[in-house]
Amino acid sequence: MNRIILGKTNREVSTISLGTWSYGGINTSGKVSVGWSGQDDQDSRAALLRAWEVGINHWDTADVYGDGHSEAIIGSVWDTIPRKDIFLATKVGWKKGPYEHYYHPDQMRNQVEASLRNLRTDVIDLYYFHHCRFGDETEYLDDALEMMLRFREEGKILFIGLSDWDQAKIMEVIDRINPDVVQPYRNVMDDNYADSPLKNWIEEHNAGVCFFSPLKHGLLTGKYTKPVVFPKGDYRSHVDAFRDPEIIRKMRENRKLLADRFGDHPQPVLHGLIDALLTDAPTGCVLLGQRNIKQVEAAATLGHALSPEDAAWVRSLYEM
Ligand SMILES: NC(=O)c1ccc[n+]([C@@H]2O[C@H](COP(=O)([O-])OP(=O)(O)OC[C@H]3O[C@@H](n4cnc5c(N)ncnc54)[C@H](OP(=O)(O)O)[C@@H]3O)[C@@H](O)[C@H]2O)c1
Repeated sequence: MNRIILGKTNREVSTISLGTWSYGGINTSGKVSVGWSGQDDQDSRAALLRAWEVGINHWDTADVYGDGHSEAIIGSVWDTIPRKDIFLATKVGWKKGPYEHYYHPDQMRNQVEASLRNLRTDVIDLYYFHHCRFGDETEYLDDALEMMLRFREEGKILFIGLSDWDQAKIMEVIDRINPDVVQPYRNVMDDNYADSPLKNWIEEHNAGVCFFSPLKHGLLTGKYTKPVVFPKGDYRSHVDAFRDPEIIRKMRENRKLLADRFGDHPQPVLHGLIDALLTDAPTGCVLLGQRNIKQVEAAATLGHALSPEDAAWVRSLYEM
């Protein structure tokens, strides 16, 4: 597995890193589906073991994935996998507890302790603000940042991360937080990173960058032959594109084009979709949600950036 230096963390991580949202299983927050259906704990553990074996050494989770279940699955493998071999990231911000805001300092304290317990570790390598909603006047930011810095002083976390689905929201607070690593949403269909202020910021500050949902939750692989309906508790039930016949048809068509263009690669479709994201990100990795051994083994063939021409060609297929 190819590796990069994750910017100023100076840590070497696999260009294809492991996203473990699905390991939390089916889940709701109020009426909103926030989990994944069809995940089996045995598959999750087997995938972690295989990821370690193939050199996928950076694992991403969050306190909220399955309300700690994803973290606990990770915490259950240290009898086999040396903890020091893995760069471990988790997040805080989507569990409010009894407080008026997600980033209330006491709630952050509760959550960091819960994550350490679930992960069965003394230290979290990378601890993210999961989103950038720090209140209408960003009034919760200063205290939240102070808590993060305190966790670092206490040795509970090593590096500070910042994430959001919306790059503009990240840019509103990025200078105040000055994160070591940024985690934005990016895939070849929804891609505004290439010419973005965020990319400039990352380069100027030598930050690490980890792209999430690189397959748009699996949609881009073109494996679906017709629109799909996911059960309650599965986040994908909210993603309209899975129900759009024209998008499903286009994904099938693009799958064939990728297979033709990259036919000499063992995973031509994934190579086109995933490795396109590495072309302009020398301090970057992709957080790919791998649910089982088969998906890890496919991921292990990836991680070498496409040429700029190939990456531009792939992106052009998904302009819709
Ligand atoms: N910071 C944030 O707010 C945030 C938000 C979202 C995600 N994330 C992180 O990013 C990670 C990945 O994003 P994601 O979970 O949305 O999904 P994703 O990586 O875009 O897609 C994952 C899906 O792609 C399919 N897939 C993966 N490997 C495959 C392979 N080898 N062959 C065929 N299909 C394959 C699987 O679909 P099937 O299920 O159909 O098998 C899998 O469930 C998450 O796990 C999480 O760590 C962070």
